[in-house]
Amino acid sequence: MFLGGGFLFLLLLSIRVVWASSGDRQISFQHCVQHCKQKCTEAKPLAFHLRLLLWTCESDCDYQCQRNITLRAQAIGKPVHQYHGKWPFIRIMGVQEPASVVFSILNGLMHLKSWKMVKNNLSTHPMRKWLCVFVVLGTWTWFCSAVFHIRDFPLTEKLDYFSAAINVLYMFFLGIVRVFRLDNWRQTQIVAIACAIPYILHVSYLSLVKFDYGYNMMANAVVGLLSNVVWLVVSIQAFRNSQPFWWKPIVLIVLTDLAFGLEAFDFAPFMDTFDAHSLWHAATIPIVSQWYNYLVEDAKWDAHLEKPHKN
Ligand SMILES: *[C@@H]1O[C@H](CO)[C@@H](O)[C@H](O)[C@H]1NC(C)=O
Repeated sequence: MFLGGGFLFLLLLSIRVVWASSGDRQISFQHCVQHCKQKCTEAKPLAFHLRLLLWTCESDCDYQCQRNITLRAQAIGKPVHQYHGKWPFIRIMGVQEPASVVFSILNGLMHLKSWKMVKNNLSTHPMRKWLCVFVVLGTWTWFCSAVFHIRDFPLTEKLDYFSAAINVLYMFFLGIVRVFRLDNWRQTQIVAIACAIPYILHVSYLSLVKFDYGYNMMANAVVGLLSNVVWLVVSIQAFRNSQPFWWKPIVLIVLTDLAFGLEAFDFAPFMDTFDAHSLWHAATIPIVSQWYNYLVEDAKWDAHLEKPHKN
């Protein structure tokens, strides 16, 4: 587990946070964009679906030039460059990163589809309401992720980062609720406030002071690590209580860390569509589903422990 966490941590340290990329500095790219933009005043308006997704003649020039230069590079076997921190993906229906959008939506659906299972299986178990909140937060997070990958703007980026952070934090919160078997409102309220305060400070800092990518990543890494530790403790407790599936949180966390590890291999997208980031989103789809199965199974098992005589 610490291996998983440590791995995650090293990985985060190794990821470059560069938002101007080698492609932006290419003379051919700069010339292309400049030349294209000069024609923007007399150019005919963009297709309706592009305008709907807030493409402008200028941003379309940027896209067209990325694609043109990339196609030329590929034709002669030259390496593909990144532009503005991203690979030059093929745009589909005005969607910037179609693969990441599809995978984000599927992740969101995994949360949504768990609603019934959580609602119907846990009757009065205290974990039930927290899992319902998890469904709402998870769905919101992946909705924001989909929107961000449809069109990358400062606002959609913030929504994506802030919701992702609350998701990471909420996993930690759920773990704490589980470890201490918090079943009264007062106790959970204290933990919730203890989590909410740093979150509010985090969001305020990023939105009011400085949108600092390095710091944001560190903050998520630290909370992610803490969450790994808490779920490790859940596993150990479950092992001591001879829960037959005590190992599941460990497996899920290691799988999540490994999936995140895909991000480190920042390879040029295959089929001009699937990059490491989209694969990380793809990998979490089954993991989300397995988390819910585990969380519900675990809560049921816990309820069963409470009153073994009644079975
Ligand atoms: C991209 O290439 C196509 C075909 O070669 C050309 O018609 C178009 O003008 C180019 N676009 C830009 C923005 O240079």
